This record gives sequence, structure tokens and C-alpha cells, in this order.
Amino acid sequence: MAKFLVQHSSPLSGEVTISGAKNAVLPLMAATLLSKDECKIFDVPELADVAVMRKILESIGSEIEEPVRSVLNIQTKDIKTIEPDNELVGMMRASFVVMGPLLGRAGKAKLYRPGGCSIGARPIDLHLKGFKALGARITITDDYIEAEAPEGGLNGSTIYLDFPSVGATENIMMAAALANGTTYIENAAEEPEITDLANLINKMGGRIKGAGTDNIKIEGVASLHGAEHTVIPDRIEAGTFMLAAAITRGQLLIRNVTPDHLKPVTAKLRECGVTVEMGDEGMYVLADDRELTSTNIKTMPYPGFPTDIQSPFMAFLTTVYGHSTVIETVFENRFMHVAELNRMGANIEIQGNKAIVKGGRKLRGSHVIATDLRAGAAMVLAGLAAEGTTQVSEIYHIERGYEDFIEKFRSIGADISRVD
Ligand code: UD1
Repeated sequence: MAKFLVQHSSPLSGEVTISGAKNAVLPLMAATLLSKDECKIFDVPELADVAVMRKILESIGSEIEEPVRSVLNIQTKDIKTIEPDNELVGMMRASFVVMGPLLGRAGKAKLYRPGGCSIGARPIDLHLKGFKALGARITITDDYIEAEAPEGGLNGSTIYLDFPSVGATENIMMAAALANGTTYIENAAEEPEITDLANLINKMGGRIKGAGTDNIKIEGVASLHGAEHTVIPDRIEAGTFMLAAAITRGQLLIRNVTPDHLKPVTAKLRECGVTVEMGDEGMYVLADDRELTSTNIKTMPYPGFPTDIQSPFMAFLTTVYGHSTVIETVFENRFMHVAELNRMGANIEIQGNKAIVKGGRKLRGSHVIATDLRAGAAMVLAGLAAEGTTQVSEIYHIERGYEDFIEKFRSIGADISRVD
């Protein structure tokens, strides 16, 4: 099994360019199923999850070309099957976002139960609640979830989400784009990835209003056509590099960021004493020669503090003086990195969904596990701050979601190597 060896780092410096967002590109790729025409997507990151989504679409009947790196031309003239390859679907939870567009376009979908990071139970009841409200008949067996639209297609409806789920909002939006009549999603997720998806569907001829707010209106149309779209920058990757600057007390210029998407991370880093400024070329993060202090974090749906930055931020908080509290409200099982950080010498105590970080400890290199994608990034960050060498295993999690991870870190001075 491949591992990363991370050496203690002097302050990182230089510049790094952020890739297209993993969490945006996966639903964007799925949305191309809504049309028989070709869609062109730019700034597609080269990631294991993108490769899986590509194969899932191909198993459905899409023809996909990559004329140059980071550009995908996707065309699905015919839906050859409404049951994408089981093994691929089982590899990634995000594969479930093909259900909405399949149901919308083909009137049917059958999916193997999705897999992915083990952060909490991660049910799909809200996705199914949405499909049902649109008139679909849902059948659940031990291995499969099937949805079938009524004769004449899905019908617009009003759906209240009990929690503003990102995936459910995306799936319902895609299914409703081709439904008869108008759909309203209330208490919708407001994440930038939702707005990006609505923008693509609207370029394809869709009629979606209110994406980015908690109330989305989708007027169904009879058909959608091809379009071109550039994926938004990955705010989680950007946040990870902001924290890389902070944890090594370095200074970085981060290019291709949307500062509005990073408001909570910026605010919390500033509270700790890190300087974050926007310039003409991108975002400057300066943490050199500073006395940094603790802060408190509570993860929330957007525009609150992102759960995906919780573990990288916690790694940083172990290195600053004072006590910090970190409250996780989005996922119920997202503290698996705490044991790993403690193994490195951190002092973190868990009380329910709250972690108390007693900062200012010297971390030491250890053997740790990337327990999920973002926790893996947290381990690497902690390794940069720790004395000696940190060995991070199960790095396939990291490679699922960060493009050119090692290359980007090396280009700013980190000593990270991959060993098989
Ligand atoms: C997406 C992101 C993930 C991020 C998460 C929250 C992708 C590919 N992944 O995941 O990186 O951490 O948003 O910002 O975009 N829930 C239900 N029922 C459902 C669906 C969700 O109870 O039907 C719960 C989940 O268990 C979780 C919470 O809602 O506790 C948030 O999940 P959701 O927003 O759906 O996350 P994902 O779309 O899976």
C-alpha cells in the first residue's frame, strides 16, 4: 500500500494554483447526462474520483474525450443502461448524483448502494424524499435503489429538506430540470457547488433560479442542449493550502481562488493572527514570525465553516497556544483524525460532537492513517509541523480529492515523498 513520508518543514513559501473543485465537477459531469448533445467542461481536476465518475458515465453510454489535460467533452446520445456499473458506484458515494439526471432523462434509474468516505451514516433519505415528491416510485432492496418516474414523466413539486443536504439538493435539481411544471426546494443547500451546477444547467437551457439561497425554483423544460462550462476553484483545496502556510508559519500566494467562498476559513485564520489578503494575483496568506493564538470553530452548512476544513484546521490548532474548541454539526462521525493527531503528541479531548484542543504542543513524527480524504490532508499538515518523519498510510483517500498533491506541496518547499 502506498504511503506518504512527510518531513518536518521550514516555513513554506512561494505560490500554488488551485484546481477545479472536486465537489463541483462530479455533479457537473453527471448533469451532462441530461442532454443528448455534447458538453465541454474546463478545469477538470485529475483525480481518482473524477476517473471513477468518467467510467460510471461511460458505463451508462456517454462518449468522453479529453482533448487536452483538464478538459472533458462528454456526450450521451443514448442512455444505454439505467444501471451503471455496480463496482464503480460502490467505490464512491458521490456516484449517487447520477440518479437524478438518469431519472429526469430516462425516467428510471437503478443504482447499487453508494460507498465513499466513512464519515457518519450518510443516509440518502432526503434524495429519495425529493424523488418521491416528484412522483417517482422508489424500491429499495439490500443491494439496490431503484427509482421510476410515472407515465408522462416527473412532476414538479415543493420539497422541504429537513437538512440542507448538498447531494440531495443537486440530485433533486437535476431530476426536476426535465420535469413537468415547477419544483421548489426549500431549505436547500447553498454551497457554491450548487450554484455552479445550476449555472451549467441554465447554460444547457434549464430554468433554475435562486441557487445559492435556501429556496431554489426549477421550472422544468422539455429538453436540454449542450453547453460549455468552467469548474469553480476548489475552496477546500485552497483552504488546505491556507492552513499549510499557517501551520508552517510560512507565506504563500494562492492563485485561482474565490475569496467569497473562503470567508469562514479566512475569518478564523485572522482570529488566530494569520494575515489573509487578496491581491491582483490571488490570495496572500502570511503567518511568518507571528505569535498565533487559539480560536473556536463550529462546522455548519454553507456559508458556515466547512466541515471539510475541520480536520485540517484542527491540525493547525494543535500548534498554536491556548485552548480551542471544534464543534462538528454536519457529520456525526468526523473526529477519527483526533486519535491520529494525539498519536503525534497533540492533546485533544472529545466530548460528544465537541473536540477540545489544548494547543502549543510539539508534534512528533509518527505512523498515522488517512482515515478519510480531508483527515488525510490534516495528517500531512501535522507532519509538516512535527519533528522528524511522519508516515501517512491509506493515502488513496487523499488522492481521491487533491490534484497533484505532492507536486504542489513540493513546489512550495515541502519534503513529501510517496513510497509504495
Ligand atoms: C457533500 C460533499 C462533502 C461535504 C458535504 C457537506 C460532495 C461530493 N461531497 O457531501 O465533501 O463534506 O457535502 O458539506 O459534494 N444527510 C441525510 N440524508 C440525506 C443526505 C444527507 O441525513 O439524504 C445528512 C448526512 O448524513 C450529513 C449531512 O446531511 O450528516 C450533510 O450531508 P450532505 O450535505 O448530503 O453531504 P454530501 O452531499 O454527501
